[in-house]
Amino acid sequence: MNVSNAAALVTGANRGIGRSLVKALLNAGAAKVYAAARNVADLKDIAALDPARVVAVKLDVTDRAQLARLPELAPDVRLLINNAGVLDFGTALDMPLEAIDRNFSVNVYGPLLTTRALAPVIERNGGGAVVNVLTIVALASMPALAGYNASKAASWSFTQSLRGSLAAKGIAVHSVFPGPVDTDMAASIPLQKTSPDDVARAIVEGVAEGREDIFPDPMSASVYQSWRADHKAVERQFAA
Ligand SMILES: NC(=O)c1ccc[n+]([C@@H]2O[C@H](COP(=O)([O-])OP(=O)(O)OC[C@H]3O[C@@H](n4cnc5c(N)ncnc54)[C@H](OP(=O)(O)O)[C@@H]3O)[C@@H](O)[C@H]2O)c1
Repeated sequence: MNVSNAAALVTGANRGIGRSLVKALLNAGAAKVYAAARNVADLKDIAALDPARVVAVKLDVTDRAQLARLPELAPDVRLLINNAGVLDFGTALDMPLEAIDRNFSVNVYGPLLTTRALAPVIERNGGGAVVNVLTIVALASMPALAGYNASKAASWSFTQSLRGSLAAKGIAVHSVFPGPVDTDMAASIPLQKTSPDDVARAIVEGVAEGREDIFPDPMSASVYQSWRADHKAVERQFAA
């Protein structure tokens, strides 16, 4: 879709990739960016970037009452970026069920319910796009992130279902599979990381170019090539 002159909404916009997405959308000429966060006070800096175009919105993606108010708060939206996410460490054998639940609430039901809330608005505005920020470990699991992998794999599955359901409504659906990104979420992961600004720019470019599956950094692009060639080899590599 043509991002310039469109209104977009980004969840989890107060820090990390979400914050960079707001900047990338402003740079790409978005008419307005609804920056959504659990705590609007955390959006002060990002709103100050461009007070005429950034609108702060309170949104916890697990809060059904706040989700129900979204269509009134963002009536002109045409691009939804489901970015908010959480990562809890733990293996399939020892991770507390409460932590698995939290990963599913935010990473699976969050984007699903936010999309359900805003798809009718996007359709009414003439169509547009929904972007789900997943992860490269949706393709193959890392055992120490068992609940996170599973939640993102489930979200990838919903992403594909939504693509089928929303195509006829003029809404493109994009999946994004980042590798490690230099944000709070990955702070304790000792791997080379891409900057959130670079990842956000690649996401916005991918949407503008109409790419359904976006691999926004060199690591994710290379893992995707390996996975296409031999997905079992990637599974073994991640398990190790
Ligand atoms: N960093 C990576 O290496 C990496 C790699 C692949 C994919 N991703 C994905 O990229 C997305 C952004 O991650 P990040 O790296 O920017 O992480 P981050 O720095 O930890 O930021 C996470 C964002 O999600 C928000 N959030 C968490 N729970 C929420 C809820 N219930 N409702 C609304 N917002 C909520 C946080 O808000 P608060 O400030 O209120 O907590 C924060 O704004 C996530 O979906 C993540 O899974 C990240």
